[in-house]
Amino acid sequence: MIALGCDHGGFELKKEIIKYLEANNIAYKDFGCDDTSAVDYPVYAKKVANAVVSKECDKGILICGTGIGISIAANKVKGIRAALCTDCFSAEATRQHNDANVLCLGGRVVGAGLAVKIVDTFLNTDFSGDERHIKRIAQIED
Ligand code: RB5
Repeated sequence: MIALGCDHGGFELKKEIIKYLEANNIAYKDFGCDDTSAVDYPVYAKKVANAVVSKECDKGILICGTGIGISIAANKVKGIRAALCTDCFSAEATRQHNDANVLCLGGRVVGAGLAVKIVDTFLNTDFSGDERHIKRIAQIED
C-alpha cells in the first residue's frame, strides 16, 4: 500500500501519479489534499510519514511545489527517510543505498512523464542490503 500526499502545488501531479498507480494495479491511500486550494504541506507530510512508520503503508509519495518543504517536514518523523528526486538515477540510488521509504517530488519542477518514471523506478528498486548501507542507515536512526 502506497501512502500519497500533497499540497496545492503538488495536486495536479498527484493526479498523474494516481493514474499510473491505478493502471498498474498498485494499491494506494490518498491522505489529501483534494484540490488546488492553498494548504500547509507539513500537515500532509505528517499524515503520510505516520502511515509509513506505523506500517499502515509500505512506502509514501509526497508532492509539493518544489518537493523541498514536504521532504524537510517528512524527514522530521523518526524512521522516515524521504528523498527528493528529480531524476531516475537518484530514485534508484536512494532505494539501493538509503532504503528511502518516502519519495518526494516537485509538482512545479518535474513534468508528469518524468515524474511517473521516477515513481516507477522508486517503487521497483529494492534496497541493496549491503552492510555498509545498513550501518549508515543505523547511524541516521541513532
Ligand atoms: C507552496 O506555494 C509552496 O511553498 C510549496 O508547495 C513547496 O514548494 C514548499 O517547499
